[in-house]
This record gives sequence, structure tokens and C-alpha cells, in this order.
Amino acid sequence: MSDKQAGANIEQGVDKRAEERHGPVLCVVGARPNFTKMAPILRALAAQPLPALLLHTGQHYDEAMSERLFTDLRLPRPDINLGVGSGSHAVQTAEVMRGFEPVLDAQKPSCVVVVGDVNSTLACTLVAVKKGIAVAHVEAGLRSGDRTMPEEINRVLTDQVADRLYTTERSAAANLHREGIADERICFVGNVMIDTLRFNQPRAHAPAATLAAHGIDPTLLDGAQGYGVVTLHRPSNVDDQETLRGVLQTLATAAQQLPLVFALHPRTRNNIDRFELGALIEPRRMLLLPPQGYLEMLGLMSGATVVLTDSGGLQEETTALGVPCLTLRENTERPITVEQGTNTIVGRDRGAILHGLAEILAGRGKRGRVPELWDGHAAERIAADLARWLQRRTGLPTRERRSQP
Ligand code: UD1
Repeated sequence: MSDKQAGANIEQGVDKRAEERHGPVLCVVGARPNFTKMAPILRALAAQPLPALLLHTGQHYDEAMSERLFTDLRLPRPDINLGVGSGSHAVQTAEVMRGFEPVLDAQKPSCVVVVGDVNSTLACTLVAVKKGIAVAHVEAGLRSGDRTMPEEINRVLTDQVADRLYTTERSAAANLHREGIADERICFVGNVMIDTLRFNQPRAHAPAATLAAHGIDPTLLDGAQGYGVVTLHRPSNVDDQETLRGVLQTLATAAQQLPLVFALHPRTRNNIDRFELGALIEPRRMLLLPPQGYLEMLGLMSGATVVLTDSGGLQEETTALGVPCLTLRENTERPITVEQGTNTIVGRDRGAILHGLAEILAGRGKRGRVPELWDGHAAERIAADLARWLQRRTGLPTRERRSQP
């Protein structure tokens, strides 16, 4: 190698290092549950000497699934929106990857922060790590053990290649160790979803107002048993006609005991129409709402006697709120909500669901306790750790970073 060439290489190395030091932290969101997790992280990063940019892949795009949540959660408008929309898993993942690569080339981030387990999480992680850009994964290490769930594939693969893994419960580290991931990459910080819950509790909307806003008589919630809240959107529950029919029949039976408020995901709404199952919905007992904003859902859950769901986030939120939760899945990647919280796994079995409900209505529902570090400050711990970790990686003193434009 000539001296000139060697000099050029050294210069390039120096340039690359300088870029890495100066680059922003690029925070990625794509689908509804990501927004809830990213809001407190962005607030916490603002208190660190780390410039941050927000990128929305556009995986969720409906006003009710996206815009509305940004307003409720006081998220800043995304600096970049890839606008990928819906598609098969392959198409959606591929479109995010294609859109994300030029953003990395242009922004040269010091680090990419991804949250949760949606297709956007994995797609952006793959692109970043292959370009040698550090990735931090928030909510790492959760495992359902069920590889038929698309989210499980996203979790396993993201954690294998991400550099810094922030966990919400201690069982996550054991899962990661089992997959050969070194302890140095793992940092137990607690649960950012609960940061968002605590931050927004004072602003939660009253359930009666939420119903009235959709032309539903709010006094329907005033019966002796109160009301239940239902959300369903997992492909395993709603994409097969007979499965969805069975679940709705069980819920119709449950609704004879207390009214159920359904916040319907577009996937579920489409499938009820497509499979012509609308007749199973008894309008004064099963109260159908479109996807709700964060503050409406928080109000509805807080006041509920029981929540029936297949969502991951609701299992955690009900545990934090002390509201009994029946999870209509065969497993959970969040075992602490069962071991310490208010969650019971009932699957799709009619007998198990109705028995679980009967126990709760008889006053024998789980009360639970709030897990370790679900204290409203997880995002601050993430931001502080990330600042230290990036500083060690790039060797730039914090003071110097602060003086960067
Ligand atoms: C995605 C996540 C899931 C998360 C859920 C929360 C993956 C693999 N799944 O599932 O982990 O719990 O978000 O909602 O990433 N649709 C709309 N408008 C929208 C978005 C979606 O109508 O704004 C409809 C479309 O018909 C679309 C379908 O919902 O095809 C599914 O959307 P998609 O983003 O593929 O997955 P979700 O079921 O929302």
C-alpha cells in the first residue's frame, strides 16, 4: 500500500469515527404498541446530551392506529416517515428495509433504537447491523416459546444481532443467556410501557365519555358487575373463520353477565365482516368501538372489572393497574404478569374463559403486585445507560458531546 493510500485510509477511518460520534440516535417506530414505548424514551433522551431523530416506518397508518396515538402520547411528529403501509410479512419487512437503508446513509446515526417485536423492529435492526451501526433493543428477551407467532421470530432475531439489550423483567436475561447472548449486552431497566401509563394516568378519559362519543348509552356500564374490556387482534384468534366464531360465541355468553366494550382492531373488524359474523354481536351487551386512543383505552381499562385480551401490552398495563386480565392465548412472553400480576392465561377454551370470568365476578380475581422496576422511570435508565455506552464505544467525553451542534 502506498503512503498516500494509507493516509487516505486513515483519513477515512477518522471521518467514519467522527460521523459515528456526531450522528443522532435514530429512534424507530412502526406500529401502535411502539408509540407507547418510544414516547418516554424520547423524553428521557432529551435530558441527555444525545440528539435524537424519530423515524416512523408507516407500518400503521390509519388516523386511529397512528396519528391519534402521536397526539395522545405527545410524541413529536416523525422527522422521517417511510410510509410503507400494510402487506404480507415479506413485503412489509422488505419495504421497511429498502426505505431504511438510504436514511442511514444520509443521517449516519450513532445508534438505532428499536422497541418491541413488530416487523418494523426486525427490519430496521437487520439493515442497521449490516451497515455496522449499533442497535439498542428495548423490551429484549421476552419469549413465548411459540415460533408460529410472527412476533416471536422478530424477537429472537432482533436480540441475536442487536448490540444493547434492555429488558423489562428478570426472566428475559435467562432467555437471552439460553440463546448464547453474553451478559455484557443485557441491561435490566424495567418497563417503558409503565412509564407511559403513569405519565398519562391523570389525563385518562372517563369511560362514559368514550362511549357517548360513539353514540353508545353510557349508563350501560353502570350495572352491578361493572363492565369488561375486550381487545383481539392476533392472527391466531381472528384470521380463521371458525376460531373467530368460537371466540365471539364465548364472549357473547360472557356478555350476558356484564357488558363488554370491544375496541376493534382493523384486522378484526375486517374479518368479522368478511366471515359474516356480525350477527353474533348483541348490540346492548357487546359495545363495539373503533380502535381507541391511548387516553380512552387507559380510562376504559382503569375502570374495568376485567380485561379479556390477546395483546401483550394490555397484559402488562392491567398488571400495573391491578385489574384482572384473562389472556386469550395459549402462552405469554410476559410471565411476570402471571407470576406477580393480575394475568391468567385462558387460551381459547370456552370453559376456561367462562370459569376465569366467574372467579373474577365472585371477587376472587388476582390482585397481584407491581413488578420490580415497573416504576415509571425505565426510560430514564435507558437514556442514561445509552449515553454511557455510546460514550465508551466512541471514546468521546460527555462534555465534548454536549458542545456538539
Ligand atoms: C402489528 C404487529 C403486532 C402488534 C399489532 C398492534 C407485526 C408482525 N405485528 O399487527 O405485533 O401487536 O401490530 O396493533 O408487526 N391495518 C389497517 N390500518 C392500519 C394498520 C393495519 O387497516 O393502520 C389493517 C390492514 O388490513 C393490515 C392489517 O390491519 O393488513 C394488519 O396490519 P399489520 O401491521 O400487518 O399487523 P397487525 O395485525 O396490526
